[in-house]
Amino acid sequence: MRRRVIAGNWKMYKTLAETRAFFSAFLPLVSNAKHCDIAVAPPFTALSTAVEAAKGSSVAIAGQNVSWSKEGAFTGEVSAPMLAEVGCRYVIIGHSERRQVFRETDDNVAKKTLMALSSGLTPIVCLGETQEERDAGLAEEVLSRQFTGGPGALTAEEFSRILIAYEPVWAIGTGRTATPEIAAEAHSLLRRCAGENFSVHLASALRILYGGSVKPDNIQGLMAQEELDGALVGGASLDAKSFAAIVNFV
Ligand code: 13P
Repeated sequence: MRRRVIAGNWKMYKTLAETRAFFSAFLPLVSNAKHCDIAVAPPFTALSTAVEAAKGSSVAIAGQNVSWSKEGAFTGEVSAPMLAEVGCRYVIIGHSERRQVFRETDDNVAKKTLMALSSGLTPIVCLGETQEERDAGLAEEVLSRQFTGGPGALTAEEFSRILIAYEPVWAIGTGRTATPEIAAEAHSLLRRCAGENFSVHLASALRILYGGSVKPDNIQGLMAQEELDGALVGGASLDAKSFAAIVNFV
């Protein structure tokens, strides 16, 4: 049985004061949650405040992005050792907003994943098709290409230390959740890719999160699918009560 992971991606939201207020309200609401791993990914500026606020709780902190270089003249970038030093345990890599708005490629994703692993961070590697790709019947092709170019380029040992998030672009921030069945179908395709690239054993141990308009009122239906090993939550993770309701789905 794979342990579930519920992670919140705050994107470019929350000041330091809002970060502190979130954790004061959120931590008591999830203090009895033993059934899953919990993570929150604040913006870079709030990482250290979040680490401090979550100290002593079971909530881990995640970066939302990382450089593929360890250090150097890369204005605006933040390295994996920096994220590890501040107290991050996870880092989101290849989010569709990074791929679409900032033109990140599968090759960038592979390099960032390696760098994160070498700093002891657990990468949450995101992939997912756009609406046009799904409508054109290309969803499977896009997912296998993103898998092969990103996670598929790792060694088996490296692959055993990552999480994958399936985030169909058409479901992100749109209020249009993938049905549990559509999500499960994509997850089993990704698990099949993992089996073909690595081994059946690694494929069955791989945790795949679903992301895209996850809310308190649809989390149960999604988690009822055996293929879904957790959720990567955007908008609904900004509010302590609604994110706690998602964490406490059981
Ligand atoms: P929403 O939950 O706001 O659709 O965002 C999903 C997401 O992008 C999480 O990384």
